[in-house]
Amino acid sequence: MDARLEALLRQMPKAELHLHIEGSLEPEMIFRLAERNHVRLAYPGVEALRAAYAFTDLQSFLDIYYAGASVLLKAEDFFDMAFAYCERAAADHVVHAEIFFDPQTHTARGVPIGAVIEGLEHAGRRAHAEFGLTTRLILCFLRHLSEEDAFATLEAALPHRKHFIGVGLDSSERGHPPEKFARVFARCRELGLHVVAHAGEEGPPAYIWNALDVLKVQRIDHGVRSLDDPALVRRLAAERMPLTVCPLSNVKLRVFETLAEHNLPALLDAGLCATVNSDDPAYFGGYVNENFVRTFAALPQLGVAHALTLARNSFEASFAPAADKDRWERQLDEVFRRIVA
Ligand code: ADE
Ligand code: ZN
Repeated sequence: MDARLEALLRQMPKAELHLHIEGSLEPEMIFRLAERNHVRLAYPGVEALRAAYAFTDLQSFLDIYYAGASVLLKAEDFFDMAFAYCERAAADHVVHAEIFFDPQTHTARGVPIGAVIEGLEHAGRRAHAEFGLTTRLILCFLRHLSEEDAFATLEAALPHRKHFIGVGLDSSERGHPPEKFARVFARCRELGLHVVAHAGEEGPPAYIWNALDVLKVQRIDHGVRSLDDPALVRRLAAERMPLTVCPLSNVKLRVFETLAEHNLPALLDAGLCATVNSDDPAYFGGYVNENFVRTFAALPQLGVAHALTLARNSFEASFAPAADKDRWERQLDEVFRRIVA
């Protein structure tokens, strides 16, 4: 790849909008926390665990991802995990991250939701002080569980309302359509929370329609299957509905066989507000800059203009204040002028 394009991709300021914090747990940290917390793992060591990261679909990943998260017990564990992510994100010139967390994965093991949120929030505060990175938290409901369970989770989280800006919907997509969570999302909207949902990762375009029409989401997480439905593409383009696309994730989970077959160029050509994100970087082979560089390397039709569009889309699609977005745009112009112009 052209050296200037690679430098631009790596150094341009960017927002990361689709990152599961539990998916940033590197194997080394899994074993360190397992030892610290006296948790037994099914794998003898880091190498054996990494060797198990050969996924065939979303569910085969989720089974290992939830097992990895079992080492998280105390606020300091959540702090260590999130601060490590923030260090890596800042090194990738991420200026703002909207971070997903899965409280039900932890509360089901007896971990108080307050310990989860407190540890994550503390890491975000420290990262802001040390690197100027802004972070916000988005609480995700696990869609393989019931709506009743989601309501109970929301209730338990409300004492910590000031520490999260929105809710999302993740976990096993097929067989768990958005409309299963219509009432809890309506309640979250009433509470003034932002709402997003995974849709069209493995699931059909109908799930994207229902995320829009029933859940009234403000962003679609993944959404790559939208291109199967021209009417849906027109709607997403007209509304500038953001899609948080995760190329390395899509290849690891076999949504696309190779990066060269990824539809990111087609999404951008269709005028959609697509962004590039890492999803679960410890499991999928790279943080956000690896997603940018490897995707652009595999798809030579992507160039400087696409890089700038993706950075701008990430600011536009974020829930950050307009003044922050303006500042990041100016930083982007400076980096562009320094490296390319
Ligand atoms: N949880 C963590 N990563 C996920 C993904 N890619 N899809 C759905 N749920 C997830
Ligand atoms: Zn995801």
